[in-house]
Amino acid sequence: MAIEAKLTIAIDGPAGSGKSTVARRVAALLGYLYLDSGAMYRAVALKALERQIPLENETALEALTRGTNIELKAPTAEQETAGLKNRVFLDGQEVTLEIRTAEVAQAASRLATIAGVREVLVAEQQRAGQGGGVVMEGRDIGTVVFPRAELKIFLDASPETRAERRWKEHREKGEEMTLLEVLKEVKERDKRDRERKVSPLVKAHDAVLVDTTALGIEETARLIVLLAQERNRVDGSKEEQAVDKP
Ligand code: CDP
Repeated sequence: MAIEAKLTIAIDGPAGSGKSTVARRVAALLGYLYLDSGAMYRAVALKALERQIPLENETALEALTRGTNIELKAPTAEQETAGLKNRVFLDGQEVTLEIRTAEVAQAASRLATIAGVREVLVAEQQRAGQGGGVVMEGRDIGTVVFPRAELKIFLDASPETRAERRWKEHREKGEEMTLLEVLKEVKERDKRDRERKVSPLVKAHDAVLVDTTALGIEETARLIVLLAQERNRVDGSKEEQAVDKP
């Protein structure tokens, strides 16, 4: 008997590697919940910017994170067609579009170096993903949030390809940035994310590395679904063997 376990799928990687689009698509194909952990860092960053809290003030930012309520909701069918992957609510107010600017991204990556902030958000993410049947994307999902995830993917692509994807996204939203400016932003954030002391962006030893420089969204998503089905079969046959034992 095939056992259809509800897997936990962790997708990590740098900005513009295709994480969000791929993770959303994988979740849709498998009927899983999609969770974007980066949106939580971005939401707290937006609140800190609005309140003009200096990004060096670790104590104030940790307290701010503890007192913040973030909800991630699925978009309506219409919004999904328009390219929206999820809806983000900060203390009850929708901030879906506001958190996607380059300024918020930079602030999020600075905030994300603070251990106390991470502790609060990681606990939230673990709560949201408990029970499996979830695709969560971020920087530390396979290493810290769900180190026992059945399937871990590390998505990567060349910095130029990643910057170009991000530049197109900004342009579609009417944000004026040159490709060079976006490349600089992406590289700066990469460096900070990879070099920080707490939970740096790193491939988990048991993650599958997928380079999306020359791979489309659909191909990448299908590859991950195939890997998930394979993990499911392996886990299922292990359970069957255990059941079969006299
Ligand atoms: O979409 P993009 O890859 O550009 O960024 P994001 O996933 O929205 O994350 C924004 C920032 O939050 C990243 O640059 C990281 O510094 C931080 N982050 C993190 O530290 N850990 C996560 N699990 C997710 C995001």
